Amino acid sequence: MKIKEIYETMSYGPAPESAEEAIQFLDNHKRKFNLFINGKWVAPSSKEYFDSINPSTKEKLAQISEANEADVNKAVAAAKRALPEWANVGGHQRARYLYALARQIQKHSRLFAVLESLDNGKPIRETRDIDIPIVIRHFYHHAGWAQLRDTELKDYKELGVIGQIIPWNFPLMMLAWKIAPAIAMGNTIVLKPAESTSLTALLFAEICEQIGLPNGVVNIITGHGKTGATLVEHKDVNKIAFTGSTEVGKIIRRATAGTGKKLSLELGGKSPFIVFEDADLDSVVEGIVDAIWFNQGQVCCAGSRLLVQESIAEKLYKKIRTRMESLRIGNALDKSIDIGAIVDKSQLKVITDLVQLGVDEGSTLCQPSWACPKEGYFYPPTMFTDVSPSATIAQEEIFGPVLVAMSFRTHKEAVKLANNTRYGLACSVWTELRTSI
Ligand code: NAI
Ligand code: MG
Repeated sequence: MKIKEIYETMSYGPAPESAEEAIQFLDNHKRKFNLFINGKWVAPSSKEYFDSINPSTKEKLAQISEANEADVNKAVAAAKRALPEWANVGGHQRARYLYALARQIQKHSRLFAVLESLDNGKPIRETRDIDIPIVIRHFYHHAGWAQLRDTELKDYKELGVIGQIIPWNFPLMMLAWKIAPAIAMGNTIVLKPAESTSLTALLFAEICEQIGLPNGVVNIITGHGKTGATLVEHKDVNKIAFTGSTEVGKIIRRATAGTGKKLSLELGGKSPFIVFEDADLDSVVEGIVDAIWFNQGQVCCAGSRLLVQESIAEKLYKKIRTRMESLRIGNALDKSIDIGAIVDKSQLKVITDLVQLGVDEGSTLCQPSWACPKEGYFYPPTMFTDVSPSATIAQEEIFGPVLVAMSFRTHKEAVKLANNTRYGLACSVWTELRTSI
């Protein structure tokens, strides 16, 4: 294409971010990662490894260790041994380590962003501008709390060894949300990343090594659900912090009941996005892009149920359809895409099956006219209209780029529809109405 033509169409060309540094990191580890226990890289007792895949291309990135019970025991023992000294070292010292972690992640932020996009399929624009900067802020923020603990939080006492199990939708961000506050308060950690996205957690382990974090304060063990379950059941773990599916959350709730273990769970959602007839519809459309197509809709608090006042419903649907046409989907490392790849094959199947069910149940499917690239696990932005409130797609979390739209007439009906769900994670209301409260 000639430059003159580009000026005329103003269309985007591909703008790939270089993967060189991330590939170098993988090659330095010979594309095979061991477990990070007690400050050292140790081979898994199981001798088993599984593949981590780049969902934009389906290419294998590296082999990841499958930790078994013996490995979980080793990691928990290391965390337990490290606990007294880490708790006694004081808030000021812990703050110094947290600052060092923040600074070192900041220094390598591009590497983290590229590695996350390679492993998860989320657009580099998001990892670069959202995920990694938030991770860095978390470590700085909790460094501040570590510093203040001895004066402002005198009654706080560390809980002990914390088992942390995280999902794949915001891999490093989830790690930061869990690790930073826990180590700030003097706890020690055994963290298990999700099996499909372990790589940035392993790079984080390397950062812990680089800054000289005392051995055993942070241990990273990789593996599937069974590894997580073994960690949950370990008698020397004082608390479990879990983010993931409602189903696994329930299993963990049962497994920890009566054991005295503390527990925090952050599970699913089917959050309403309520639009009244006086709302600024162009802002609403951009709000919807962020609510359901950001991170391919793989967000616990995604605005996945659009509730729109009947008088403007058709007008809004038309605007959404127009916007869908102009969204760009493609390789996560392309800086000019809006939507990346779905995390893996199994999640793509869940989405595809639920969308088919929506069609079978009689809802109207709307997808853009363009086709997704074939080389990766892609799914187009999707909207359903004519959805009945009891339809499966209106009740079940889809966890993909699928918006489910329903209309209402009165405010009362909007609230009823919004609450017609088992979930209660988030909600947004779009109106220009100003009321005095
Ligand atoms: P999952 O809940 O199975 O996985 C989350 C983490 O839990 C992973 O690290 C996994 O290895 C671990 N895990 C699995 N079984 C376990 C067990 N019995 N004991 C301890 N740990 C265990 O989620 P999955 O299968 O990857 O996704 C399924 C659905 O979960 C998604 O479609 C979505 O609806 C929901 N989900 C919600 C998330 C959120 O942010 N709230 C994040 C990821 C998934
Ligand atoms: Mg992967």
